[in-house]
Amino acid sequence: MSVPPVIVNFKVYSEAEGTRALTLGKICQKVSRESGVDIAICPPMISLGVIAHALRIPVYSQNVDPLRPGSGTGYVTPSMLHSTEVRGTLINHSEHRQPAESVQKCVEMCRELKLSTCVCVENVDEAGRYAAFAPNMIAIEPPELIGGNVSVTTADPGVISGSVDAVHAVDENIAVLCGAGVKTGEDVRTALDLGAKGVLVASGVVKASKPEEALRDLIKYI
Ligand code: G3P
Repeated sequence: MSVPPVIVNFKVYSEAEGTRALTLGKICQKVSRESGVDIAICPPMISLGVIAHALRIPVYSQNVDPLRPGSGTGYVTPSMLHSTEVRGTLINHSEHRQPAESVQKCVEMCRELKLSTCVCVENVDEAGRYAAFAPNMIAIEPPELIGGNVSVTTADPGVISGSVDAVHAVDENIAVLCGAGVKTGEDVRTALDLGAKGVLVASGVVKASKPEEALRDLIKYI
């Protein structure tokens, strides 16, 4: 499965409420088409299926729950994602953590359905342990830097290179992404120099006064 060098997580920011999620998604699609850089997006859960249907860039879920179809209320199952044009999912985001056994189950259930998986981790140790579940991607995001103005690439470059080493010691096929405070093309270039295959970003694009310009700046060295 291909690894997008940029995943934009819309989170539950007000900038992505209602029709604004599709507007933002269209901006990401326009920049992706014009630049030739793959950009995936994670819209809010409520608009996921509609946006995946409307756009051609990869649309991922922000979360998935390890349930089979059946009784269960208020969950999002791998099977539900598979029944739409959604192509993959984040799992275990720092703002939506799951127990390790649920993470493993989600990865396995998604693999059966050929959904791409990006497992988020908080540190090098977790990166190495969760590599054993064989997701397609592991995203290292130190929680204290998320949503801030200091990029992980500046604040803690060692956590990126350390995660790349820890993950590849287990499975070289897993792509490592990084995120938290990533805002500029320079941040992305540093991430790639440190061995990451891409970045997981949110506020730098979603909360930017000009998201299109912010995104163009972000991808300028890819
Ligand atoms: O999912 C991406 C994220 O947690 C990073 O957020 O705002 O620091 O880019 P942000």
